Amino acid sequence: MIRQMRKEDIHYVVKLYMDYMFDSFFAKLDEKFLSIMFDGLLCSKYEISYVFEKDGEIAGFITASTNTKKLFNEILKKRMQALLGVILAGLFRNPHFLCQLVESFFYSKKTLVNDTHAELLFITIEPRYRKRKLSKELIKTVLDQLHKMSVFKVKVTTQRKNYVVNKLLEGLQFKQVRSFSFYGKVNLVYEVALADDRKYI
Ligand SMILES: CC(C)(COP(=O)(O)OP(=O)(O)OC[C@H]1O[C@@H](n2cnc3c(N)ncnc32)[C@H](O)[C@@H]1OP(=O)(O)O)[C@@H](O)C(=O)NCCC(=O)NCCS
Repeated sequence: MIRQMRKEDIHYVVKLYMDYMFDSFFAKLDEKFLSIMFDGLLCSKYEISYVFEKDGEIAGFITASTNTKKLFNEILKKRMQALLGVILAGLFRNPHFLCQLVESFFYSKKTLVNDTHAELLFITIEPRYRKRKLSKELIKTVLDQLHKMSVFKVKVTTQRKNYVVNKLLEGLQFKQVRSFSFYGKVNLVYEVALADDRKYI
């Protein structure tokens, strides 16, 4: 069953994030950082998140935003105190994080595409449930909601080396619009137009 993400899902969502998106900078900051971030996300009007629930277990999730810059500025502002503690602890564990932390603040600028602010942010499916078109279903659910909110263009970034995600996006008619370097890796920005006749899926 696909349903909207709730606060009680955060624990499972963080676990999925840590297990299957472990090379992301946010995961390196640790579970506590992710818990605060998802808690902040779920309180924001810029956030759209769904989970795939099976037998009472969260086996996948997607998070998107109508405006990523505003979303993260809001989380930073509202959760500053809690975030500062975990970020400082992360920097203490690994001082190299400082460069990545500084680079994070340039994410919005690097991924700027015309006037497209809506963005797919994170998606993960538990390996047992992969290749059943669940990620397609989650993305479709988010795109449908954005369309209902009169959002007509959506972007997403992924690492060039993430073959599966690149295939997934191309299959959903996302078009590559630019590439940029982030955390020392080549990333691609894709965009899709949400047509009135919903032919985007
Ligand atoms: C990427 C991910 C979410 C795909 O989930 P999924 O539910 O297995 O994907 P789907 O079954 O909906 O497949 C959709 C499309 O993705 C592509 N795809 C999925 N798995 C693939 C694989 N192993 N090899 C090549 N292409 C693949 C195909 O184009 C597929 O469409 P098709 O079935 O019509 O050929 C999943 O592999 C995952 O969780 N990966 C780890 C986390 C991650 O990298 N997240 C993205 C960064 S935010």
